[in-house]
Amino acid sequence: MTTANAPGKIILFGEHAVVYGRPAIAVPVREVIATAEVTDITQTTQGEIRIEAPNIKLDKWLHVLNPDHPLAKIVHLTLHAIGSPKFPPLQLRITSTIPISSGLGSGTAVSIAVVRALSTHLGQPLPLHRQSALAFEVERIHHGTPSGIDNSVVTYDQPIYFVQGEEPEILHNETPFTLVIGDTGRTSPTAVAVSQVRRAWQEDTPKYEAAFEAIGQIASQARECLMEGRVQELGRLMNQNQTLLEDIGVSSPELRALIDAARASGASGAKLSGAGLGGNMIAMVDPDAADRVEIALREAGAVRTLRTEVST
Ligand code: PMV
Repeated sequence: MTTANAPGKIILFGEHAVVYGRPAIAVPVREVIATAEVTDITQTTQGEIRIEAPNIKLDKWLHVLNPDHPLAKIVHLTLHAIGSPKFPPLQLRITSTIPISSGLGSGTAVSIAVVRALSTHLGQPLPLHRQSALAFEVERIHHGTPSGIDNSVVTYDQPIYFVQGEEPEILHNETPFTLVIGDTGRTSPTAVAVSQVRRAWQEDTPKYEAAFEAIGQIASQARECLMEGRVQELGRLMNQNQTLLEDIGVSSPELRALIDAARASGASGAKLSGAGLGGNMIAMVDPDAADRVEIALREAGAVRTLRTEVST
């Protein structure tokens, strides 16, 4: 049996603006993971793959899945990338502790775990940049115009500074810091928020370009803070980023309630993370304030809270 994992992720700064060419920063969240296990099986013919994904109640042969199903797609892409070898019948079992459609990168992490487990099991592990490119192909079917930040941060499993079309820059933050993540419990498909922003951008391009530019500058400042160990300044930058995300219409009353609760209970800053309109928010906290902030988030309606330490 071959097992492989990939972590969750959150976007620290720059979501949405990154789709329009501005920089963004994302970090892995290793407290939640997707796992893929590949096992040889005997009871069927060569070249068959049984896909089992209990989280989404799926248990089917590959050939009966729609080729555009994200799991079928990533399996086909992986097999093609390693030269479509002949192989014995296999079982591919996928499990994940990453909440779905909530900005924590669950789909991407599943794709990367599958690429890793399958290519390694068949004796041809793929390098990181190929893993990332395959996961990006899957994102493209389902998100339309993904920036590529999700597949990059999940693949490299390091904090990254990302500009669309460029190699991700690994950020070596010398001073680890703590984030609390609060889940509104409201799932929010990325494609919906991204296309809402696209329509609004088409209607009022100057307003949206100005907001994206300001968000990009916040991401650049945050990169300097991280590299110079000035992490205490990140909270203020998160608050500024949140104001701009509200201006472009991707916050929600549930997100706002959690963000207010985090700030009121001692977080130095908070913002939504990912596509918005639901999903998760993040708060920058001192380690000794983390318990208090988590309790406040739950009281304000968070269905789940997570704590993560961001370090290289
Ligand atoms: O997948 P999410 O929900 O974390 O959102 C990705 C971030 C966006 O900037 C909204 C989209 C993208 O492709 O970068």
